Amino acid sequence: MRFMTAEPFRIKMVENLKKTTKAQRQEFLKEAGYNAFKVKAENVYVDCITDSGTSAMSTEQWAAMMKGDESYASCKSFFHLEASVQDIFGMPFVQPTHQGRAADLIMANLYAKKGKYAIGNMHFDTFRGNAEIMGALAADLVIDEGLDTASAAHPFKGNMDTAKVTRLIAEKGVENVSVIIMTITCNNNGGQPVSMQNIRETSEIAKEFNIPFIIDCARYAENAYFIQQREPGYADTPIIEIAREMFSYCETAVMSSKKDGLVNMGGLFVTRNEAIFAAAQQLTIAREGFITYGGMSGRDLEALAVGLYEGIDQDYLEYRINQVKYLGDRLKEKGIPIVEPTGGHGVYVDGRRFFPNIPQHEFPSQRLVVALYEEAGVRCVELGACAFGSKDPVTGKDVMPALEIMRIGISRRVYTNNHLDVIAEALGYIYENRDSYKGMKLVYEAEITSLRHFTAGFEML
Ligand code: F0G
Repeated sequence: MRFMTAEPFRIKMVENLKKTTKAQRQEFLKEAGYNAFKVKAENVYVDCITDSGTSAMSTEQWAAMMKGDESYASCKSFFHLEASVQDIFGMPFVQPTHQGRAADLIMANLYAKKGKYAIGNMHFDTFRGNAEIMGALAADLVIDEGLDTASAAHPFKGNMDTAKVTRLIAEKGVENVSVIIMTITCNNNGGQPVSMQNIRETSEIAKEFNIPFIIDCARYAENAYFIQQREPGYADTPIIEIAREMFSYCETAVMSSKKDGLVNMGGLFVTRNEAIFAAAQQLTIAREGFITYGGMSGRDLEALAVGLYEGIDQDYLEYRINQVKYLGDRLKEKGIPIVEPTGGHGVYVDGRRFFPNIPQHEFPSQRLVVALYEEAGVRCVELGACAFGSKDPVTGKDVMPALEIMRIGISRRVYTNNHLDVIAEALGYIYENRDSYKGMKLVYEAEITSLRHFTAGFEML
């Protein structure tokens, strides 16, 4: 296979992209309140706002969709999906949901408790939003290296700091910790992986204190690939076996299938706890739909049943992780400060190091999002002062987050390296002119701070 270094697929159907002028894009930005979420997708040239729900599906998935069984109850498509999940996850009880946050909400209802800690490496926004609404205390205890964007030395920067976990349990009392959640890969600090050893050790602490251990596994296949490539002892282990071992340590897994499931919509709540499963089914019926579809159509269940296997394919994962790394390497060549090493689903640019003259409270990463769209029609997302900023519950003052980054999310099987070159060239141009940029001011924010970035409005300073 020496010369077979290209994508392990060819393109059968294309979606045309529209080119726009800089003047048009400046107008679109103004209309959108300088929030990229509000720019119309048709006016985006390369869309990197997320890797979620944006995958290109395969011929096998489209063919499976034609066999979707749309029966309300006990449809054939559910049993196809259930068999795939049971096989890959090695867990018996499978509840589909319409997307990841619905599984999050069920999980939060069953495991998060008002006034009690939910420990995570770094919780994703939607669990954090649910926790905030319920009054649970979401604690991020990732290792310190995970917050140091410049350090490339650690191969698993998504790891939980187990010393911090035991310290928090000792200080707050085990009765005040209701759940431990491991997010793999860790989205919020760069799609950084978690090692098998760390998953195991964290699960052992959870077991010792009788605290349920959950995995948020939206990008579990990418995490498994990093374990195979980087963790001693796994080089010859097939991805499916690595996945089964990861899941063997948790009681329940929640998944946004829109990432490594290679589908456009769907979620999963998977457990080995029968009583929890029964409770999850009741919540599903009340909110999502009957238990065998949980908010998904029969055809979507079929696409996921197939997509889960394609997502753990060795050739696919090699292509996937190396395409993201290609962009990371191109940015590094230009001296652009990125989170290192490059993670699984995107390249994360450090906004503070990119724009050292823009203070964090003037949103340097958001300024970069705006500049990149303005110059090249490329759309990314801010994960910094706006998305991760919080309010001091006593003083109401803004608290700045440790990380200040812009994520370039790379969709699966969608863009070629030529598209990634557009991003690299445009970012290189902005970086050369970085001294000419000023910050931004937040002029509208929604009430739930952890979700404010989706609807925020800005003005340019
Ligand atoms: N967990 C993680 C780790 C996620 O990254 C996401 C979504 C969810 C849960 C929620 O899943 O969107 O299917 O409801 N992340 C997307 C992103 C939105 O852009 O990173 P969902």
